[in-house]
Amino acid sequence: MTRTLGVLMVCLGNICRSPMAEGVLLARLQEAGLGGKVRVDSAATGRSHIGHAPDERAIACAKRHGIDIAAQRARALQADDFDAFDFILCADRTILHDARMRKPRTAHGDVELLLEWSGVGRKDVPDPYYGDARDFEKAFKLVDAAALGVVERIRQGRF
Ligand code: 4NP
Repeated sequence: MTRTLGVLMVCLGNICRSPMAEGVLLARLQEAGLGGKVRVDSAATGRSHIGHAPDERAIACAKRHGIDIAAQRARALQADDFDAFDFILCADRTILHDARMRKPRTAHGDVELLLEWSGVGRKDVPDPYYGDARDFEKAFKLVDAAALGVVERIRQGRF
């Protein structure tokens, strides 16, 4: 039996970076013929935007890249996510620290920095929330690089 791999994207609000990361990973998996092989979701470490749609600027940015993320709704990272997902990929080092603190001791999910998977030489996806469309574009490019890294790792069977 082959188990479906689970990848959870996590940021502070789940309205900017992680919804774009979720959307672009689903798209890149589909393009690689791996659609349906990986369960992808996203969540927030903060609680301010639970139930909200992605930020309009994130929706517009993803749309410019042919990806529709408008139907996503923000949800909180919860304890059972750490067993429900194999990889919990965090948008920056603050999120990584917070997520690792919340991981139950017995849980198996691997909590990592999203950009570790990207091949770009940086650690954090800068938060575009207080920025403009260019900041969203920069964040999109980074999460796209990470998504391509995830696809590559799956192709190589490195799990
Ligand atoms: P995200 O961006 O973590 O990429 O979804 C943010 C969204 C909202 C806030 C901060 C960052 N906020 O302070 O409300």
